[in-house]
Parts: sequence; structure tokens; C-alpha cells
Amino acid sequence: MIQNENQKETSPRRKKLQKIGVFTSGGDAPGMNAAIRAVTRAAIANKLKVVGIRRGYQGMIEGDFIPLKSNDVSGILQTGGTMLKTARSAEFRTPEGREKAYQQLKKAEIDAVVVIGGDGSFTGALVLSQEYDISFVGIPGTIDNDLYGTDYTIGYDTALNTVVEAVDKIKDTARSHGRIFFVEVMGREAGLLALTSGIACGAEVILIPESNEQHSELQKFLKKGYRKKETSGIIMVAEGDEAGGAIKIAEQVRREHPDLDVRVSILGHIQRGGSPTAKDRVNATKMGVAAVEALLDDQQSIMIGLNNEKIVHVPFNKAVKMNHAIDINLLEIQKLLNI
Ligand code: F6P
Repeated sequence: MIQNENQKETSPRRKKLQKIGVFTSGGDAPGMNAAIRAVTRAAIANKLKVVGIRRGYQGMIEGDFIPLKSNDVSGILQTGGTMLKTARSAEFRTPEGREKAYQQLKKAEIDAVVVIGGDGSFTGALVLSQEYDISFVGIPGTIDNDLYGTDYTIGYDTALNTVVEAVDKIKDTARSHGRIFFVEVMGREAGLLALTSGIACGAEVILIPESNEQHSELQKFLKKGYRKKETSGIIMVAEGDEAGGAIKIAEQVRREHPDLDVRVSILGHIQRGGSPTAKDRVNATKMGVAAVEALLDDQQSIMIGLNNEKIVHVPFNKAVKMNHAIDINLLEIQKLLNI
């Protein structure tokens, strides 16, 4: 049973749904291929034709389309990246670019589209569907897990496990040398990945954009904790932290505490790659099927979400405008245990 965040957003469809498009957009995320596979096969099972739109909105503008049959999505469930490729398109931000994109969709007789991506991708879909007669349903795909209305976005679980594996290794060398490591993880505007990986790795301090109180925790750790314990330390830093990235924060710490042995490790795009975890594959599959069902049910401008493991429909305007609240209690837990 699907729960709706809002009342169902429907409009009378002029033409019976026959052909759908599917594409990935924005930063890639492990599990996007599993979602493409689920969308393609669920659509074919429902007698729909499927077109893969390559390179995100840029490919839509250029008509870079490929027909997708069941065999075309075989062997991709376990692979990272996106077989359809992705892009961030500046041209699509212009009315001329969007008109070209719409004309290409019409020329290819695509009736509705599944967009797999994050907030920028859904904002683009919302704008195009407001300007032209084309329906979109979204599947959240971003390692940031920052969309309102869904507990999970595709790729987050894999990225979390990648970060944890990397930090476990960094801890080995940090302990051997008695060093403090500032580990920067992705999350331009969202600290969830830093927060949960910090908890999973037993980080001494976690710096995230959603809370600036942690900087005093860092000072406490540097003044007392580190010396008291005479050991190493891991400071997790979300790239969007207001004090700047790990390099900037570490430089300041070096200036203030020249006696400390400080190193920086920026995990970077390693977090976006790799074979998706079982959880990301299952979630991507569930959401892919649900996206096709939503289109068959004449829904539009909604994102498929997962709430307590159940599929929910979240209007695009809510998913992109409201924040995915992070569990600040996790910071309290981290402080409590960090004695
Ligand atoms: O939106 C996902 C994300 O991975 C952010 O966490 C990160 O800031 C950004 O993408 C990096 O994007 P790009 O690969 O385009 O530099």
C-alpha cells in the first residue's frame, strides 16, 4: 500500500502511456544501474517501450537516446556508476535548452520520464513539466541522502560503507604514528554521510554543516582529550562544514597546536564508485518498480521515497525545498561515548 505525502498529483493524460524515458542526472551514485534495470524491466513487463536518455539533461537536449530492451540491462545490477552516463547541464537551465529537450522527447514519442538523481535533477524535471506537457517521476539517487521525504537515497549505503572501510584503514596508520587525521567526506550541503560514518568509525569529533557546536568539541578534544589519551584521533569533516573543508580546518589547528602531528585525508570521488551494497540494490529495485507503477497510475512530479521500508510518494516541490532532517541525537551519542 503506497502512502502519499500529499494528495495525489494527477492530471488527465491526453495520450495512453506507451513509451517512457529513463535517465540519470547530477552526481552518479552506486545503485543507479540497479534502478535503470528495474525501471526498464518493470516497464517492459507492463507492455511499455523504454528509451534510455544518455548524459542526463544534456543528452535530452541533444536527443542522445537509445532503446532499452530487457537484455540491455542484464549484468548491470551489481555495477557502480551509471550505464546511461550522467551530466550537469548548464544549457538545460535556459528556457531555450528546455525547449530543445522537450522537442527531442516529443520527436522520440516519449510520453513520460523517470529521472534518477538528486534535488537539482528533480528541480529541472519540475520546471520542464510546468512549462510543457510531459510527466516526470523521480527516484532519489545521491550519496548525500539529503532529500526530504525519504529515509534513503540510492548510493548512500554504499558510500557509507566505503567511507567506513577507508577510515578503518586510516585509523591503523593514525594509531601507529599517534596522529590526528582530518578526514573529509562528501556532502556540500549535507552532513549525514559524515555523521553516520563518524559514528560507525568512532570518530573523536564530527564537523557537519547542520551543527556548528562541534567546533567547541574539537577545541576540547585538542586541549584535553588528545593529550589525556595520548593516542590518535579521527575528526570527520563534511566538505560543506561552515569552517571550510578539512585542509582549512587542519591548517588552523596546526597553527594553534604546532606540537600536534596533524594529517588530512580527503576521500573524494572514491565515495561515489564501487559495486552497490545489497541494501542499495534492493532499494533501487523497489523504487524502480514503484516509479513505473506511479507513471501507470498517471502520477507526475513526485519522487518515490522509502519511509520505514514502505514506498511513499513525495511531491517534487517538497522533496527539493525541504531538508532531510539529520538525527542530531547521533551527535549527542557520539559525545556521550567519547570519554
Ligand atoms: O551531490 C553529490 C555530491 O557527491 C556531493 O556530495 C559533492 O559535493 C558533489 O556531488 C561533487 O560533485 P562533482 O563530482 O560534480 O564535483
